[in-house]
Amino acid sequence: MSEVLRSPDEMKAWRKKRAGTVGFVPTMGALHAGHEELIKRARKENDLVVLSIFVNPTQFNDPNDLQKYPKTWDQDFAMAEMNGVDAIFYPNYEEMYPDKYRYKISESDYSRLLDGAHRPGHFDGVLSVVMKLFQLVSPTKAYFGEKDFQQLTLIRGMVEAFFMDLEVVPVATVREQDGVAMSSRNTRLSAAERKMAPAIYKAITESSTASEAAEKLQAQGFAVDYVTDIGSRRFVAAKLGEVRLIDNVEI
Ligand code: PAF
Repeated sequence: MSEVLRSPDEMKAWRKKRAGTVGFVPTMGALHAGHEELIKRARKENDLVVLSIFVNPTQFNDPNDLQKYPKTWDQDFAMAEMNGVDAIFYPNYEEMYPDKYRYKISESDYSRLLDGAHRPGHFDGVLSVVMKLFQLVSPTKAYFGEKDFQQLTLIRGMVEAFFMDLEVVPVATVREQDGVAMSSRNTRLSAAERKMAPAIYKAITESSTASEAAEKLQAQGFAVDYVTDIGSRRFVAAKLGEVRLIDNVEI
């Protein structure tokens, strides 16, 4: 039975009583097969597994996106149980931000590109909450999906910069059969938008340049924030109606 821990104090007390390795999977809930893959990896590689579910308001630059973020506690709990999660950390905003977000972690270079350029403050919110979660859970290893590659890179950088004693483990993007990257936001797509969504993966894998991919998506009715090649990866963010989707691939 997964234990549910509702406050930072409960989380810390639980951790203090446990020896052995702890695999940590931080999430905002609305769990899907991508999260399940992270949990399975954590289960395989550690004595204990902690999952956190916290829809972190400080990383949402768009209040509408925060309000509409899917909440599926019953299914999330069932998935955690089925995959042998030992503890679910499920705190509220007041307890996670006793400082009312006066203190934050900020990166001043890579976080300003790509999603950072289109979502002001987003990565400050992500890094700050992940730092808080790492302090409370004290994981041996923490698992992040490559779908959010910029997030993964920034968290790795933070762990290095602050000499944190844990390993960040990247896990490959899980895709639907038609290529769409698994995301909690996919459930917000209308049937017609869901039919169009595979065009994102198709465009970034089949175009020879980033601008060609962007043109293809624009021609099909996507509102493209960016398609950009950095190093050996191609990154994309595009909106279908109200829903903003991101993806990236190795090129
Ligand atoms: O990837 C997510 O779900 C979130 O950004 C994270 C890492 C749980 C921080 O809120």
